[in-house]
Amino acid sequence: MRAADPRIVLGLYRSRYERRLLTGALDLGVRTIDTSFNYLGFRAHETLVKVARDLLPRFSISTKVGFFPGPGRAEHSIDPGRLRAAIGQSARDLGQEPDLVFLHNPERSLTQLSEGSARHRLADACSVLADAREQGLCGAWGVASWDPRPLAAIVGSDLPRPDVLMVRGGLFVGIGVLEAVDCLTERWKPSAMWGMSPFGGSTAEPVWNTFDPRLFLCDPERDCSAVQAAFRCAYHLPVVDAVAVGTDNLDHLRELTDSLGIGVDEVTVRRYRRLLRDRCQED
Ligand SMILES: NC(=O)c1ccc[n+]([C@@H]2O[C@H](COP(=O)([O-])OP(=O)(O)OC[C@H]3O[C@@H](n4cnc5c(N)ncnc54)[C@H](OP(=O)(O)O)[C@@H]3O)[C@@H](O)[C@H]2O)c1
Repeated sequence: MRAADPRIVLGLYRSRYERRLLTGALDLGVRTIDTSFNYLGFRAHETLVKVARDLLPRFSISTKVGFFPGPGRAEHSIDPGRLRAAIGQSARDLGQEPDLVFLHNPERSLTQLSEGSARHRLADACSVLADAREQGLCGAWGVASWDPRPLAAIVGSDLPRPDVLMVRGGLFVGIGVLEAVDCLTERWKPSAMWGMSPFGGSTAEPVWNTFDPRLFLCDPERDCSAVQAAFRCAYHLPVVDAVAVGTDNLDHLRELTDSLGIGVDEVTVRRYRRLLRDRCQED
C-alpha cells in the first residue's frame, strides 16, 4: 500500500461506482473521492454506502450541492432552502458528514440577474454552506465552478470565503477562464485550490493526437506517457494543490499516481499562457 498523497482526487462523475475501484485507489494512496448529490441519477451517495460502507471512513469525501431532480431532467438552483435540505440529506445518505461540500456551478443560476442581485444570491448560497460547516454538517466548504467568469465579475472580499475553490484545469482551459480563476483566488483567498477534468472529460478525443504535452516538462525527453504529461500540466493551468480526475481503470489511476514526481517547466507554462493571451487579443 502506498502512502497517502492528497494531490489526486478520484472524481466519480462518470464512475461505475465499483468497490474494486475504491479498494484499488486506497492501495495507490488516493484517499480523497469527489462525488455529488446529483451524480449517478441522484443515487451516488446511497450507492457508495451500498458498495463500500466499510471503506468510506478511510476516504476524505467531498460532494456538491446545486443540482436537483426536476421535471424530466436535473435543474440547477442555489435556493438556500434547497441547498440546506441537500446538505442534510447528503450526510444522512452517506451515513457520515462529508469532509467537504461544494456549491456546485453557482454561475448557472446567476446569468440572468443584475450584478447586485447575483452578488446577493451568491452570498446567500455561500452563507448556507458556511453555516453548515459551523454546525458540523461538513468539515469544510467550497465552490466548484465550471465557468468561473461570471463569478469573477461579482465576487468581492465581502462574500463568505470558501475553504476550497475547484475549477476546470488543464490544457483545454482557455485564457478567459484562467484569468477569471486568478481574479477569484486573489479576492477569495481560499485555503486550497483544486483542479478538475484535466483531460476535458476524455483522453480519446482526436485532439490529443495533434500535439505532445511532454514539451511542457522540465525534461521533455523523460520516459513518460503523453497522458502523464497532460495530467501534470493540469497542476499548473491554473496552479492547484490537487486535481480531481475520473477513471474506472486502476491501471490508468496507477499511471497518474506514478506521474506525480514529473516536473513541469514553469517558464514554458508562462510562455504558453502569454501565447493564449496574445491570441485572444488578436481575435
Ligand atoms: N462542475 C463540476 O463540479 C465538475 C465538472 C466536471 C468534473 N468535475 C470533477 O472532476 C472529475 C473528473 O472529471 P471528468 O471525469 O469529467 O474528466 P477527466 O478526468 O478529464 O477525464 C476522465 C477520462 O479520462 C480517462 N483517463 C483517466 N486517466 C487516464 C489514463 N491514465 N489513461 C487514459 N485515459 C485516462 C478516463 O478513462 P478511463 O475510465 O478509461 O480511465 C475518463 O474517460 C469528475 O469526476 C468530478 O469529480 C466536477
